[in-house]
Formats: sequence, structure tokens, C-alpha cells
Amino acid sequence: MKIGILGVGNIGKTLAQKFSAGGHDVKVANSRGPESIDAEVLKNGAAATTASEAVRDVDVVIISVPLNRIPDVVPVMSEAPRDALVIDTSNYYPMRDNKIEALEQGQVESVWVAEQLGRPVAKAWNSIGAKSFAINGTPAGTPNRIAIPVAADDPKDRQATMALVEETGFTAYDAGVLAESWRQQPGTPCYCTDVTEDEVEHALATADAARSPKRRELSVAVFAERYNDIMVTPEVDVAARVNRAIFM
Ligand SMILES: NC(=O)c1ccc[n+]([C@@H]2O[C@H](COP(=O)([O-])OP(=O)(O)OC[C@H]3O[C@@H](n4cnc5c(N)ncnc54)[C@H](OP(=O)(O)O)[C@@H]3O)[C@@H](O)[C@H]2O)c1
Repeated sequence: MKIGILGVGNIGKTLAQKFSAGGHDVKVANSRGPESIDAEVLKNGAAATTASEAVRDVDVVIISVPLNRIPDVVPVMSEAPRDALVIDTSNYYPMRDNKIEALEQGQVESVWVAEQLGRPVAKAWNSIGAKSFAINGTPAGTPNRIAIPVAADDPKDRQATMALVEETGFTAYDAGVLAESWRQQPGTPCYCTDVTEDEVEHALATADAARSPKRRELSVAVFAERYNDIMVTPEVDVAARVNRAIFM
């Protein structure tokens, strides 16, 4: 497949490496230009380019930028084919990003993204911590394989996204329509807790919309205190242990 990835940070970098290693034709872009992209991102054959070029003539666009940068991506996405599958990895962190009023009022994060872009999106890979995503992928059939929920309104988009999630080494779980994807947002039981394929259904079913924003803030505060850095991506075991204690 031809895959364009916007954002080569913690998550986008691993997506680029995994999909290019898997034989896909991968283009990547950040906001500063191709020359600023780390060689490590490109080590398996992904091509660094501009954001507009990354989304042109592709089957799939993966948007992996901070949520408050989505408005910058909107004009770029006019270059993407109308029939391209668009997958959003984003999460809302008002303690780190600018506040977004609609999300403060409880709008589902990826529904807001789809509205900004004016096109359907699937939500995937948002619920796996970046470090776990980089090292914890395993082949299908591995006991206690980590699961990643996938939400999208069109069942074809959901199936296609699930197939890509499986390729990255995780069990894709059908989490239904995008409006239900609040169940995989920060603060919920499946969020950065390394839920296994046996746990994911219960984790999604027991998500608590009213309590998850508070739980999200508590977990950021714990990591900020532990690492003395509000932007930190915690170590794998620490992230899952702390988040399990707060979210599950
Ligand atoms: N970190 C995690 O554990 C984790 C896990 C799951 C999901 N997520 C979510 O996934 C998204 C990405 O997270 P991350 O941790 O990978 O972020 P990150 O490390 O901060 O990287 C963000 C990337 O987005 C790029 N970017 C920003 N604006 C852009 C634009 N207009 N066009 C193209 N690229 C742009 C940045 O490029 P420049 O540096 O050039 O601006 C950078 O490469 C976020 O929404 C986050 O909430 C994160």
C-alpha cells in the first residue's frame, strides 16, 4: 500500500519504521521540512518529504500530530485523495496542549478531528504508549498479546485499519463507530495500560466518560512528578503500572 504519515514523533516514527519494513511504500513528513527528519525514521526505506507531498497519491494517510496541530493539517489534507483511508492517532491533553473548547464540553476527540478535516477518520494506535508500541509488538497467536481498539464509522475503514494494526504487531479490536471512541481516550481502562486481547472487551465496556478526564490529569501529574517533566513519555513498565492503577 502507499501510506503517507504526517508526524514523525514518538508514534509516527514507529509507524514509519514498521510499515516500511513490512514492504509498504511509505512517505513521511513533519512541520519543519524533510531535511529535519531523523535518519532513524527512514532506516527501513520510508521517504522524507513535505506534508503536502506525503498525502498526495496515497491509499492511506496516518495523522500522528499533537491534537492542537490538527488545524495546521487541514489545508494539507486537501491534497489527499478523497478516497484515501485517514487514520488519526491523536489524544487530547489540555495540560500540555491549548484547550479546545468543544473537547472541554465532552466532544469525542476523533469526532472533532473528523469535523476539522471535513472527512471520515478511523481512530487507532492512540491507546498504546509510544515506547510499548516500539518494542512490544508480537506475532498473532502470541499469548497475552497486547490489543489496540479501532473505531471508524464505515465498517470497511474499520476493517482496513484493523488489518494495518495487526501488521504492527498488536491484536486489533473492533471498537465500533467513532462516536464510541471516547472509550479508548486518555483516562479509560484500555488507555496506555497494555491491555491484552483477553482484557480489551471488558476494558472498553467499563470505561467511565465522566471520570476519565480527571483520571487522565491524575496520571499526567504522577508522571510529571516522577520524571520532573510534563511532556515525558514514561518507560514501558512504569506507564502500564501507573495507568492500570488509575484507569482500570
Ligand atoms: N506519545 C505517546 O505515547 C502517544 C501514544 C499514542 C498516541 N499519541 C498521540 O499521537 C499524536 C502524536 O504523538 P507523538 O507523541 O508522536 O507526538 P510528538 O512526538 O510530539 O511528534 C509530533 C510530530 O507531529 C509533527 N507535526 C506537527 N505539526 C505538523 C504539521 N502541521 N504537519 C506535519 N507534521 C506535523 C511534528 O513535527 P515538527 O517537530 O516538525 O513540528 C512531529 O514530528 C498525538 O496526538 C498524541 O497524543 C501519543
